[in-house]
Amino acid sequence: MTGDRSVELESFLGTVPGMIYRSRLEPPPYTIEFVTDEMSSIAGYPASDFTGSAPKRSWPELVHPDDRERMRSTVRSAPADGEIHEVEYRVQRADGSDAWVLSRFRKLVADDGSLWVHGAALDVTARHDAEDLRIRLEAEHARAEAVEESRARIVEAGDEARRRLERDLHDGAQQSLLVALLTLRRAKREAEGTDAAPLVGQAMGHLEQGLAELRELARGIHPSQLSEQGLAEAVERLAERAPLPVEVEVPEERLPQSLETAFYFTVAEALTNVAKYANATQACVTVAVADGLATAEVSDDGCGGASATAGSGLRGLADRLEAIGGSLEVESPEGGGTVVRACVPLDPPVGP
Ligand SMILES: Nc1ncnc2c1ncn2[C@@H]1O[C@H](COP(=O)(O)OP(=O)(O)OP(=O)(O)O)[C@@H](O)[C@H]1O
Ligand SMILES: [Mg+2]
Repeated sequence: MTGDRSVELESFLGTVPGMIYRSRLEPPPYTIEFVTDEMSSIAGYPASDFTGSAPKRSWPELVHPDDRERMRSTVRSAPADGEIHEVEYRVQRADGSDAWVLSRFRKLVADDGSLWVHGAALDVTARHDAEDLRIRLEAEHARAEAVEESRARIVEAGDEARRRLERDLHDGAQQSLLVALLTLRRAKREAEGTDAAPLVGQAMGHLEQGLAELRELARGIHPSQLSEQGLAEAVERLAERAPLPVEVEVPEERLPQSLETAFYFTVAEALTNVAKYANATQACVTVAVADGLATAEVSDDGCGGASATAGSGLRGLADRLEAIGGSLEVESPEGGGTVVRACVPLDPPVGP
């Protein structure tokens, strides 16, 4: 461009936040006749490197090898009809990094038959980076959700196995031993007055003890009252068996099975800990559901100093609660009693 108008035009074009160019496709060689300085902020090379009769660099060579053919064929195949065409590709910057460029161009045939491209190229790297970030975050989010779901499934599968084991013990070994006990009772009556009677009595005693131990074992694996009668009943049984007075406040309403199981094991472990370490005079169990949150709290007036990470009991509870989207809190100041609190958000009700 020559003359004042072209200087003025160049000055205008220099203010555009994208590189404006005019290049010749035919006859070869490919030549950039004009390009604004914005070229240097996109690619990191001065515009003058690409122009003149013996240019130091060629723009197509800057195009990323994976995008080069696509860019070239888009430009070559676009009709020279004055319409605007678009192509997006990467260029390799002077510093070695890639820049994404959106090129809008139109092809024109000059009076002498030569073929020209007039265009503007915008640096759209930020948009691509944001898009890449969004895709990465979505993938991470999906992965985190999958991990959360699989944690919940693992806990649920473990609970199901416990329930099955408890049922097998109840319907299998316990029933057989009960039948044996009834048979021995009959045998004892029949053996009355003979030398065998005390032996039968002894066998009955062992059998009763074995049965009691088996019942205890089954209860530890999974208490049948929990599935059959619900959390309130099962917690009552735990409180009765504790070696100190335990006040219980548990609503009668049934909660989701995974939640009842998690709360049951929270109360069982916390009450066992109270009995083992707290030196307390009383404990209190409160289960409540309010504002979409279910909480189970076990407090005692003992020595405090509990640690949620010292043993496997409280840590295991925290894992179990987190697997169903909840959490475990432990407040236990030295000498100030202990509060163990499980919190689990309830799923919002479905429907209007
Ligand atoms: N109510 C409590 N009062 C005082 N100290 C407690 C209480 N509960 C727990 N602790 C302390 O916190 C520690 C951690 O308890 P946690 O239940 O995690 O493990 P543990 O009972 O030692 O082992 P596990 O439960 O696996 O048998 C206990 O060792 C105990 O020192
Ligand atoms: Mg414990």
